[in-house]
Amino acid sequence: MKFIYILLSIVTFLGCTPQEKNETPQIGLNDITPLPQKVMEADGIFSLSEKTAFYFHNEETKQIAVFFKDKILAYTGMSIKLSDEKKDNNVIQFHLEDSLKVNDEGYKLTVDSNKIDVVAKTYRGIFYGMQSVLQLLPIVTKEESKITSVEIPNGKIIDEPTYSWRGMHLDVSRHFFSIEEIKKQLDVLALFKINKFHWHLTDDQGWRIEIKKYPALITKGVKTEANSNEKQYYTQNEVKEVVAYAQERFIDVIPEIETPGHAVAALSAYSDLACNKDIIYQPRELWGVDYNIFCAGNEKVFDFIADVYDEIVPLFPYGYYHAGGDEAPKRNWEKCPQCQKRIKVENLKNEAELQSYFMARVEKIIQEHGKIMIGWDEILEGGITPTTNIMSWQGEEGGIKAANAGHDVIMTPLNYSYLNFSQGDYRVEPMAHGGYIPLEKVYNYSPIPAEIDEDKKKHILGMQGNIWTEYAYTGKDIEYYAYPRIIAIAELTWSGEERKDYNNFLTRLDNLYPTLDMYGINYHIPLPEGPTANGIAFTDSLTLTFNTTHPIPMKYTLDGSKPNENSNTYTEPITFASNAQIKIASLLPTGKVSTVRNIDIKKVKLKEAHNITNLAPGLEMKTVDGHFKEASEVTEKPNESTIINTIADANKTFDWGKEIDTTNFRAVFLKGFVEIPEDGVYYFASKQEQVKISDSVIINPNYTLKRFPLEGTIALKKGMHPIEIIYLNNAVKGWASDWNDVEVTFRKANEENYKVIDSTMIFHSTE
Ligand code: ACM
Ligand code: ZN
Repeated sequence: MKFIYILLSIVTFLGCTPQEKNETPQIGLNDITPLPQKVMEADGIFSLSEKTAFYFHNEETKQIAVFFKDKILAYTGMSIKLSDEKKDNNVIQFHLEDSLKVNDEGYKLTVDSNKIDVVAKTYRGIFYGMQSVLQLLPIVTKEESKITSVEIPNGKIIDEPTYSWRGMHLDVSRHFFSIEEIKKQLDVLALFKINKFHWHLTDDQGWRIEIKKYPALITKGVKTEANSNEKQYYTQNEVKEVVAYAQERFIDVIPEIETPGHAVAALSAYSDLACNKDIIYQPRELWGVDYNIFCAGNEKVFDFIADVYDEIVPLFPYGYYHAGGDEAPKRNWEKCPQCQKRIKVENLKNEAELQSYFMARVEKIIQEHGKIMIGWDEILEGGITPTTNIMSWQGEEGGIKAANAGHDVIMTPLNYSYLNFSQGDYRVEPMAHGGYIPLEKVYNYSPIPAEIDEDKKKHILGMQGNIWTEYAYTGKDIEYYAYPRIIAIAELTWSGEERKDYNNFLTRLDNLYPTLDMYGINYHIPLPEGPTANGIAFTDSLTLTFNTTHPIPMKYTLDGSKPNENSNTYTEPITFASNAQIKIASLLPTGKVSTVRNIDIKKVKLKEAHNITNLAPGLEMKTVDGHFKEASEVTEKPNESTIINTIADANKTFDWGKEIDTTNFRAVFLKGFVEIPEDGVYYFASKQEQVKISDSVIINPNYTLKRFPLEGTIALKKGMHPIEIIYLNNAVKGWASDWNDVEVTFRKANEENYKVIDSTMIFHSTE
């Protein structure tokens, strides 16, 4: 397939008058994404030009016509007229037809030589029909280019979505995103007929929505990031603005107010809503799960929640409200007299049932407003009301159980729909959460698991991509997570099992890059993977093999220059016999390149082992107490040394995500010898601050967020080599090193699997 932007690139500014040109898009009715259900191509074309009129017949169709008139102008530079006079020729027109054989979101699009005609049962259907038309238009990126008409191929599309829930979720608590950033996302999501935006507005790290009755929520419940004077919450007027913007794009906004867990930001403003009222709470700076949650025994909590809904229901005009319900540790409830009293009075079995009681109370508040509650799948633990809807995130099990019991379910199983998980090799990609979800895995997901009974399949409303933002600092980071995987979700939820075809999707994706570029989306381009470190040692020769998560050409240079479309194309493994520097990137058909990988290749000799006697098992450990973000901050003299038997012994406390023992913050210096089993080039991997082997620093000491192990290589002879490790017990960028294993693993260059440097391999001198 040729690309329209290549054609357009020859339409350049010449002299003072814009050059004029007709355009015949290479994009046909079968190239629309998500793939329409039925496409019938026909001979001939409709010529869209400034003489074409957009016919509207009421306020609703006028609004849609204005929306697409603006889009056509933005894409092509052509200004189409709006008209309320019926015309038979050269017109784009829409109307509603109740008897149309599609569902409420479906449409019929007919393009013939006289007109583009969109028919649907609803205005939403008409909007989607027009989004399909929009994808047939060229994008004229240069302001000075001027096209006078676009030829749109004749044919007919009859289309409807498979699922009614095609969504994206965004966490604005862990990091805050402005309404401009959110509107930008909504505008692009609408291109792919995404119809739900799940706005995760509250969590431990920040309460982000103004509630007038509780003003402290946005003064004490919001941690303003260092060096930022910007407001880090949404006023109710801003929320209205986002909802109106989404509504114009037929996207329903579903707010989430987390209860009973993920509530520390709220407790920071109103500590009397907690079980323990005497603590001064602060919005949580670390990621993870906090023990402090809303008290289930205190009526004030339910009054608070009712007041919050009184204020938010007028802002969100849709049926669904998400009440959270995930990750609520019951430790405080077990100790709280009020919670225990509630269990007794309500005749509940345990704290799991207390959570059910809590959620049922929240649901009642939501139902009093005529709305429907959704909760995360943990709320199944103690039982749910017959009217509760489930969002299945821990896997599919919760969704299967709920759907088979007759509850509506939205599938968001983390291993398929958590778009904050890495979409390539974590050693190559920018920081993301754990997990690995390449594009193909998302695309091939089917929201209806086989375990769902035939008559219960209707309870699966659809799927959404979730974006948690612990490691997303800017709107660009969100886009990198979302695109192109959210387009895969749009297709799998719209087109359904039978229509999907991954290879065909990839071809259409190539057509969509210019669109994403026009909207300024920072989408992921598969990076050249294979080598896992960016500095590689070798002794005789080294062969590097590169691959990408989906097929895309790779370009490389060996002269230090940045690769571009004219550079060498990677076609087969590259063998090196001497020092080299390879710069390699993936190249899209648009000419855009991915982030460049820069790999230094060094020919080295095996380092001699130390001939040393008087060794005993274990490493020498010295510590300095304090909170150090980098080893260079440690200036104090360490304490007396002790001997530890394994590297893991350097950390004594571990409490995943919950409470961090700050008295354990310290710098740890380990020193001794590691016994290398045989001659060879070794890869070492570690999350520690620094690993030095045989006097070479092989793990980067300047790396502060230790979420994943870094790798380094070194060539070593069999025998004893000095090893020094610096481990910092600290908390940096929301991550506590108490959550890390304190380990160093290794593999020989030709091996896949890592082994831990265990107690049999480490020694210290006894001299
Ligand atoms: C979740 O990821 N805790 C819903
Ligand atoms: Zn309590």
